[in-house]
Amino acid sequence: MRTPLVAGNWKMHKTPSEARVWFNEFLDELGAVPPGVEVAVLPSFPLLPVAAEELAGSGVAFGAQDVSAHTWGAYTGEVAALQVADLGARYAVVGHSERRRYWQESSELVAAKTARALEAGLTPILCVGEPLEARERGEAEGFVLDQLRRSLQGVEPAGPDRLVVAYEPVWAIGTGRTATPNDAEAMAMAIREELAARYGAAFAERVRVLYGGSIKPENFAAILARPNVDGGLVGGASLEVASFLTLVRLAVGL
Ligand code: PGA
Repeated sequence: MRTPLVAGNWKMHKTPSEARVWFNEFLDELGAVPPGVEVAVLPSFPLLPVAAEELAGSGVAFGAQDVSAHTWGAYTGEVAALQVADLGARYAVVGHSERRRYWQESSELVAAKTARALEAGLTPILCVGEPLEARERGEAEGFVLDQLRRSLQGVEPAGPDRLVVAYEPVWAIGTGRTATPNDAEAMAMAIREELAARYGAAFAERVRVLYGGSIKPENFAAILARPNVDGGLVGGASLEVASFLTLVRLAVGL
């Protein structure tokens, strides 16, 4: 049994004071985290101490959107996984398609970031996803599995609860286009099979595979209903308390 995870990726939005308001409103409306679902918020770095303060004791987890591939050192502008972990964060996104695209992050670099996150005690949310051309050529699965394999090179999570994979087709992110529930399910299943080949069937059976890309209250239920999809990585719809709450409630009782 996998507990669904609904994780809000705020990207480069909100000031620390806006984040404080959001956390307060969200916790007021949510009450307690409903049983059977896990909720996480992934704000940008300067907002993490605010998340740590405001979410303490609430059961809502938080995490970073990226971490350095290096442990420590003279790397101006970088943020170490250990710094993020020390704040009480549970997660770190690695390999988001925006980082792969705008900063030319290779899967090899992503593998190093994944390893640093694990060493620091964080659970990486490893993003994979194909560009539109690969899907149109019928090569989506090959593209995603190759990216997954290379992004996990040398990565040995201590257990299935220490890795989350997010399938985010690049053409669905921020575009309003979503994968069909069937496409999301087929890719989540292929990802799980690849994880089984890599880490064993018992491990793969318990790893959460999320879908991400233009998730909204109107389309989430149908995607969540598919057996291999264990929640969502939500961008735009996580910025408003009301829509994120609706998504959390849709995931309850899956
Ligand atoms: P979106 O972003 O929900 O705004 O498409 C998803 C993501 O990039 O994680």
